[in-house]
Parts: sequence; structure tokens; C-alpha cells
Amino acid sequence: MSAPAFSDNTSAHAADQHRCLAEAYDPITRARLLQAGVGGGWRCLEVGAGNGSVASWLAERVGPGGWVLATDLNPRHLVTRPRLSVLRHDIRHDPLPEAAFDLVHARQVLPLLPERIPVLHRMIGALRPGGLLQLDDLDIGYGPALLTPDRRGAQLYQRFLAAKAEAMAATGGDGCWGSRAAEAMRAAGLVEVDPVPHLTQWHPGSPGVRLQINHTHRLRELLLAAGMTEQDLTELRALLTHPGFRAASPVFYSVQGRRP
Ligand SMILES: C[S@@+](CC[C@H](N)C(=O)[O-])C[C@H]1O[C@@H](n2cnc3c(N)ncnc32)[C@H](O)[C@@H]1O
Repeated sequence: MSAPAFSDNTSAHAADQHRCLAEAYDPITRARLLQAGVGGGWRCLEVGAGNGSVASWLAERVGPGGWVLATDLNPRHLVTRPRLSVLRHDIRHDPLPEAAFDLVHARQVLPLLPERIPVLHRMIGALRPGGLLQLDDLDIGYGPALLTPDRRGAQLYQRFLAAKAEAMAATGGDGCWGSRAAEAMRAAGLVEVDPVPHLTQWHPGSPGVRLQINHTHRLRELLLAAGMTEQDLTELRALLTHPGFRAASPVFYSVQGRRP
């Protein structure tokens, strides 16, 4: 089964993408997991683990009695370590242990998958009764430029965001999934569902803006298909490194729920 175009780990830009994601969102992901009490002896599943920054941190947290399974469609950026197993695994189809984990976590995986609702049910099935699901996902429907050197810059950035959302929809993804996740989790039978939104300022050099530059390369073909030009992408890279650029981040939702 091939990787969705948005998450092709064989791309030359994949390692940089994973670094930016980790830098931008690990602090939020970890704080939320700590709040839920993740710690000694927990058995954890990290789905679509990317470069394993969250999975490695979990492996430290769970201590000698715990265990972490990090899966990915293409686990080439993952390395095993004590208490951390790595599995090449397609969350859409491959077998998953039933009722086996205290925690299932996924970040920026479900928005990419047309099969996100059945996948959500599969992840819940892997939780023991009382176990915790944490989904950390973006809604890219909001995230305007706040300061640009000129009006054309603001328009260009807006077109880029719209092209990304269009490209995502064209591949069956849902760029707004982050704000829908809580309702979907409740509909799937979870209890104590608790969505927490996060929003921050983006400026040149921040991991969120570096991730946008990464997208201008990694998603180049999809962006061109959505109507952007090579000239647009060149100008966009200049805009995103201009000291006068500021934007609001999209909203990042960290949503927790428990299997009854
Ligand atoms: C946008 S990256 C997010 C990586 C990591 N979760 C993070 O937030 O840093 C999406 C990841 O999901 C993986 N992925 C995509 N489709 C998958 C599937 N069907 N099963 C398992 N992993 C998948 C990709 O290979 C990629 O590593």
C-alpha cells in the first residue's frame, strides 16, 4: 500500500518535516500526556510515529515495566531502543492487538487518511477498557498572515494555504480534522473526551514556518496541481524567511478520551 502523498517518508524532505513537527508540537503532546499520568509500567502504541520523537520519550517515561510500540507505514526514520519496538504497519489494514494498550497516540496521521473513521475505531479497539486515546491534529482552516512586507505577500500566503487544503482534500485527507476529532471520538464511544486547542505566533525560523517552507518543496507537485506556479513557490520561500513576516498558526487540537 503506497504512502499518502502528504506523508511519503522516502521523500528527501521527510527528515526535515519530522524534525519541524517534533520541534513545533512535542512540547504540547508531552505536556498533555504527562497531565494524563503516563508513566511507569504503561503499554503504549504510537501510530504513524514519524521520526519517533514522541515514542522515544514515552519509552523513557514508562520505565523498565513498560513498553512502547511505534508503528509507521514506512518506519525508515525510526530506531529501536530499550522498551521501544518498531513495526512496519499500515494502521488501515494490518492486524492490531485487541485491548492491549494503556495509551494509543497519533499525531497528524488521521487527517491524511480517507479511512480515518474506521482507523479511529481500530485504534480504540487496541485500547484496554479505561485506556487513553490522544489524538493531536491540526485544523488548517485558520492561520492567516498577520504581517507581510506588502499586500501581495498576504495574498500569496492565503493562496498557499488554500492550495494546501485543496491538495489535501484531493488525496482524501481532511485538513480540518483537528476540530472534528473530539466529536468523532465521542461518536465512536469514548468517554471523558477533552479537546484542548493551541494557537501561537509563527515567525521566520520558528518550526511552524520552517514546516511551511518544507511543504513548498515536499508538496510541490500537489501545490502546482492546485494552481500555484514555480514563481509563486519561490516568492513564498522568500516571504517565509522575511524578517517582517508574522502569521497565526493553525489551531492544533490535543484531544483525549477514554475507552469505557
Ligand atoms: C505527518 S507525519 C507525522 C509523524 C509523527 N506522528 C509526528 O507528528 O511527528 C505522518 C506519518 O504517518 C505515517 N503514516 C501515513 N499513513 C499511515 C498508515 N496508513 N499507517 C501507519 N502510518 C502511516 C507516515 O509514514 C508519517 O510518518
